Amino acid sequence: MCGIVGAVSQRDVEGILLEGLRRLEYRGYDSAGLATLDSSGQVNRARELGKVAALADAVAAHPAPGHVGIAHTRWATHGEPSRINAHPHMSGERLAIVHNGIIENYQALRDQLREEGYSFTSQTDTEVIAHLIEKHYQEDRNLFRAVKAAIGQLRGAFALAVVHADEPDHLVVCREGSPLVIGVGIGENFIASDQLALLPVTDRFMFLEEGDLADIHLDRVAIFDREGAPVEREITRFEHGHDAADKGEYRHYMLKEIYEQPAVIKATMEGRLTDSHVLEQALGTEAGKLLENVRHVQIIACGTSYHAGMVARYWIEELAGVPCSVEVASEFRYRKHVIQPDTLFLCISQSGETADTLAALRQAKKAGFRAALAICNVPGSSLVRESDLVVMTQAGPEIGVASTKAFTTQLTALLLFTLALARHNGLSEEKETEIVQALKLVPGQVADVLALDGDIAELSEAFVDKHHSLFLGRGSQFPVALEGALKLKEISYIHAEAYPAGELKHGPLALVDSEMPVVTVAPNNDLVEKLKSNLEEVRARGGELFVFADRDAGVTAEDGIHVMQIPSVHPITAPIVFTVPLQLLAYHVAVLKGTDVDQPRNLAKSVTVE
Ligand code: G6P
Repeated sequence: MCGIVGAVSQRDVEGILLEGLRRLEYRGYDSAGLATLDSSGQVNRARELGKVAALADAVAAHPAPGHVGIAHTRWATHGEPSRINAHPHMSGERLAIVHNGIIENYQALRDQLREEGYSFTSQTDTEVIAHLIEKHYQEDRNLFRAVKAAIGQLRGAFALAVVHADEPDHLVVCREGSPLVIGVGIGENFIASDQLALLPVTDRFMFLEEGDLADIHLDRVAIFDREGAPVEREITRFEHGHDAADKGEYRHYMLKEIYEQPAVIKATMEGRLTDSHVLEQALGTEAGKLLENVRHVQIIACGTSYHAGMVARYWIEELAGVPCSVEVASEFRYRKHVIQPDTLFLCISQSGETADTLAALRQAKKAGFRAALAICNVPGSSLVRESDLVVMTQAGPEIGVASTKAFTTQLTALLLFTLALARHNGLSEEKETEIVQALKLVPGQVADVLALDGDIAELSEAFVDKHHSLFLGRGSQFPVALEGALKLKEISYIHAEAYPAGELKHGPLALVDSEMPVVTVAPNNDLVEKLKSNLEEVRARGGELFVFADRDAGVTAEDGIHVMQIPSVHPITAPIVFTVPLQLLAYHVAVLKGTDVDQPRNLAKSVTVE
């Protein structure tokens, strides 16, 4: 995904910009560029296809000195990856801009600007913004007001940073649906998509809010909200302890990663949603073309990623009405399969390097599937390189072997993909808006579940001396039960099995007694009444039940039934939220048992061999 860096300083900013870009490389990109304003009142611009290192070489050969500058790593949406399409984009010789996000009405604006005499050198939506700002600038020669007027005409999700050679002492930035943070220095100020980009120069940050517009000078930062009112945004200090490679205040990486979920789920949505719909282009330049006429989706994955795929199947069939099959990669690759026409092949993988998943993808390509889509967490991984379309999760590095934040961000990305696919298959605008609104509530709901951590830790004591456990779920919560059981077995070594609750009578009920705790997830959906009957079946056999229930589901604590109330959640987004208490349960049981939580015996984080 695109990354932005900018600086206003008393020193040359080239080095700061290049280092910032290097630190944003993890986001994934295809080209990089920068522009600075030099003392002679000129814009120095450099752009290169490929790595930041190539840009650094270009700048070394032709220096771009200047005390004010903007820089960018581009991940193509409108127009192929190329030097011409790389940012910064300019209008004339004096205005330069970098942009992260998607402008939905760019075609209409482009047509209009063309009629007015502006010519375009790239295929990007960004160049439209550059000309639009320049047009307003010509009216009253004030960059801040020109940016404000221009963004009033833009629809979509974006973050911008703009400089003008006629106003060489500042830069103007805005945030509307894509992230942007201001780094506060001493006698200098910075901006970036992510605070990690600026850690070499400052540890004090102001996070812009949606709709904010800011004017960044050497010694002051003025921020205005969407209505144009001046606002203060709190300065927070970056805690180095929270760096990816450090456990910080947490006892284990797994716990840290569980707690990161509200932030990384939000990051996975960021720049990809408006208030009412998914921005299809944000899923990739080719998304529209590849999602059209998809008649079948074949999902392939392993482990936790496979469970994410199982949840997605419920969504894809319910919302898009497209048949969907899910299979573990190691099975798929060794059997003959019938390929339905217009099948989209969807691989899910945290690492992007799982041997079976890659082998299945390569086979599928030979067998002639329509297109390959990847949901992945590691930019530049083999899976990313070999797929036609990629939706990156923004979980950041996941160190704990038992996957947690990768799973919930995979679900988030899969729901975004499902909505985009569903739009091609008759999903109503109202329904899409309803789900988008529900999705935006998820980070807060996950945070509410994390607040139950202490209670879940107490509950976990009942599992320490047990050898077996059963997890039950219905509908899209069945894969959540599978994932909960996987977490418990991986890190506590307690045998845990998951069943669709309706299958109870067909076998597992024979195992139920007081030594077999039964864990259930009970969201408030149309299957909850049936689930309650299943719970009675367990109770009647002396089984002890641990139920994580939507507070509106009407499940009450009784003898033999422990109920933990979860915030009320939309049935579609419930699998994301209900996963979290099961992660915490597994974690606390493992801690009580004294196992190696982050590196459980016999398991590996990335399975790159068969
Ligand atoms: C290993 C890991 C799991 C992961 C699975 C698939 O088993 O321990 O956490 O779910 O591989 O990995 P992937 O990187 O393809 O998601």
